[in-house]
Amino acid sequence: MTRIILFTGKGGVGKTTIAAATALRSAELGNKTLIISTDPAHSLSDAFGVNLNPYPTKICDNLDGMEVNVEYELEKHWSVIKEYLSLFFRSQGIEDVIAEELAIFPGFDELASLMHLLKFYRSSEYDTIILDCAPTGETLRLLSVPEVAKWYMNRFFGIERKVLKIVKPIAEPLIDVPLPSDEVLDKIQELYTKISELKDILESRDTSVRIVMNPERMVIRESERAFTYLNLFGYRVDSVIVNKIFPSNAGDYFSEWMKIQREYIKEIEEKFPIPVFKVEFKSKEVTGELLKEIAKEIYGEENPTKIFHEEKPMVIEKEGDVFVLKIKAPFVEKSDIKLFKRGEELVIIAKQWKRIVFLPQSLAIRVPKNAKFEDGLLKIVFE
Ligand SMILES: Nc1ncnc2c1ncn2[C@@H]1O[C@H](COP(=O)(O)OP(=O)(O)O)[C@@H](O)[C@H]1O
Ligand SMILES: [Mg+2]
Repeated sequence: MTRIILFTGKGGVGKTTIAAATALRSAELGNKTLIISTDPAHSLSDAFGVNLNPYPTKICDNLDGMEVNVEYELEKHWSVIKEYLSLFFRSQGIEDVIAEELAIFPGFDELASLMHLLKFYRSSEYDTIILDCAPTGETLRLLSVPEVAKWYMNRFFGIERKVLKIVKPIAEPLIDVPLPSDEVLDKIQELYTKISELKDILESRDTSVRIVMNPERMVIRESERAFTYLNLFGYRVDSVIVNKIFPSNAGDYFSEWMKIQREYIKEIEEKFPIPVFKVEFKSKEVTGELLKEIAKEIYGEENPTKIFHEEKPMVIEKEGDVFVLKIKAPFVEKSDIKLFKRGEELVIIAKQWKRIVFLPQSLAIRVPKNAKFEDGLLKIVFE
């Protein structure tokens, strides 16, 4: 079993810093750890003060790091498939340049970095793999790739291989579509297997996502959206880390900021029903020893590889014509519940308890009709 932890969040919030601090502490506790940066804006080398490569490079005892080079990966793994696809598109009368572009199906580049994850997972070389991901938008796209790629491939290459082999010599001269060669089919088969395996790994109990944020409106908004969609895709977010909080001795000049931050932290706690860790704004850029200090601030004496939260905070199911949103709520009577929709958010209030749920598109366009309690879950029906 390899423990996998992905760090994501809006650009500049401190993903690399927190991922590096976590990796360092994990290694210090004796876990053989690998940290992989998949953000094209690599900054892991800077955080550690070590030059990293597109393969594991030693940072310190028990800790290796690498920065993925996407272009290189693409060429290496998928040039055969890409060539066939552009041939296919060209045969359909699509211009050369566009055919080339189309041949890179959505998320192809992101998939390249996930393949590394699979490789190291399969080899069981490491106890812990930490991913310093690209900003939330890209990460979400990345994490939806296994699903999307499966769909794409089914549609495109859904023809049974056996059949294809028989039909090919007869069909090719008759229709204008070039049929994929055995080499292409082999590659596709291999890719398909890998993608399915990746999906299983990413959805497993041993993989957690941690969202890094700052106490700022726009950052919270983006993180909320990410939290909802990660949930929908079946990924497990086990905690959030609020970084760059002004310390109490920040001085008068920051007093207004500190007040605003306190309010945002409260809001974060209402929106993320999972452990919320806090990190202060340091007086200088975070590298070296300061990374260890940050790890201590977040995890204290706990092992940073611990699974901090297991349950899925929300589930959405389609029942006939209606959608049902199911969430865990720490009370059992519905008499005191107030529900209202505010734009894309659903606000649920029961006495002192308040929860704000960012709604995915499928629910945001519908109206919450009624709520009921069943099996310890609050179930809200959307029509
Ligand atoms: N708690 C903190 N206190 C002070 N500076 C920080 C803190 N966390 C991150 N930084 C600094 O903020 C900048 C952006 O952090 P980084 O981890 O690279 O963000 P991201 O990976 O999300 O883009 C870096 O210069 C980093 O040293
Ligand atoms: Mg970064």
